[in-house]
Amino acid sequence: MTDKLTITAPDDWHVHLRDEEMLERVVAYTARCFRRAIVMPNLRTPVTSVDAARRYRERILSASPEGVAFTPLMTAYLTESTDPDDLEQGFQEGVFTAAKLYPANATTNSAAGVTDLAQIASVLSRMEFIGMPLLIHGEVTDADIDVFDREAVFIERHLRSLRTRHPELKVVFEHITTEQAVDFVGSSNRNLAATITPHHLQINRNAMFLGGLRSDFYCLPVVKREQHRLALRLAATSGDPRFFLGTDSAPHPRAGKDTSCGCAGIFNAPYALESYAQVFAEEEAMHHLEAFASLNGPAFYGLPVNNDTVTLEKVAVEVPKLVNGLVPFHAGETLPWRLQPCM
Ligand code: NCD
Ligand code: ZN
Repeated sequence: MTDKLTITAPDDWHVHLRDEEMLERVVAYTARCFRRAIVMPNLRTPVTSVDAARRYRERILSASPEGVAFTPLMTAYLTESTDPDDLEQGFQEGVFTAAKLYPANATTNSAAGVTDLAQIASVLSRMEFIGMPLLIHGEVTDADIDVFDREAVFIERHLRSLRTRHPELKVVFEHITTEQAVDFVGSSNRNLAATITPHHLQINRNAMFLGGLRSDFYCLPVVKREQHRLALRLAATSGDPRFFLGTDSAPHPRAGKDTSCGCAGIFNAPYALESYAQVFAEEEAMHHLEAFASLNGPAFYGLPVNNDTVTLEKVAVEVPKLVNGLVPFHAGETLPWRLQPCM
């Protein structure tokens, strides 16, 4: 195996950059590696309007390090009162790249999400018509459904019929975590893709209980059994254009993690590409890393690929226990590949 790999510069197709002080703390870690990022709209006050997205984009750009070419791609947070005309205007003006569907109460700051897909039928038809991608947090929220089954049940109860009702709608099934999601996306002929996070490729649900309750490994959708992790690894490293990189880096202040009711979200931005590289190397699929990280996403979104490159080298990198006061994914571990130049 070679000890260097140069690929087209990657993008992150799913990230939480937060706002205010947290935005200042985290944005550089995404911007140092990824040229573009699909920015999630689940701020405490969700980004539901074109103006709010425009202002949020400005705040991200002012917080980004100088001299770094980083383009945040904004998303609209869908609610049951989203107006199709506003959404279309935001898309046509290049403010919104996509819209995000949170089932109400599925995850962090999703209370304003959608309780019934029928309520947004006209919005979905408009998106289908104008070619605006729908990004889905694919979990049911019913209390009687086991938390580990919520993604698989979402496919059967909602995703299949949504695809039949809106066959031309471009859908990204975000941060997939199960064999069922891999099979569903892998067997669709078009207009459906999925993002996969580093943590769902690296850990299974045992990690959350290793020596005690470990909120640093708690995210949503929650990590599943080993068989699911293995299915995700095969999908991500296969070169199949329907699967691409989305870190779902989701920082929370320590107080939100070190508590008896820890927040969902893993902060993986600082070593995300290194983490993916380890997985691809272990699966002997380094030749597919570029497709997953840098080519498949732009192709699905209909955007050009980046015109510069990044280089990974097989040099061990130690991940600190804390990065800017936050616990990064892989804290205290050594990863075998590092991004050059190193921070
Ligand atoms: C995300 C967050 O904290 O905003 N949390 C997470 O566990 N991934 C929301 C989300 O993507 O579900
Ligand atoms: Zn997310």
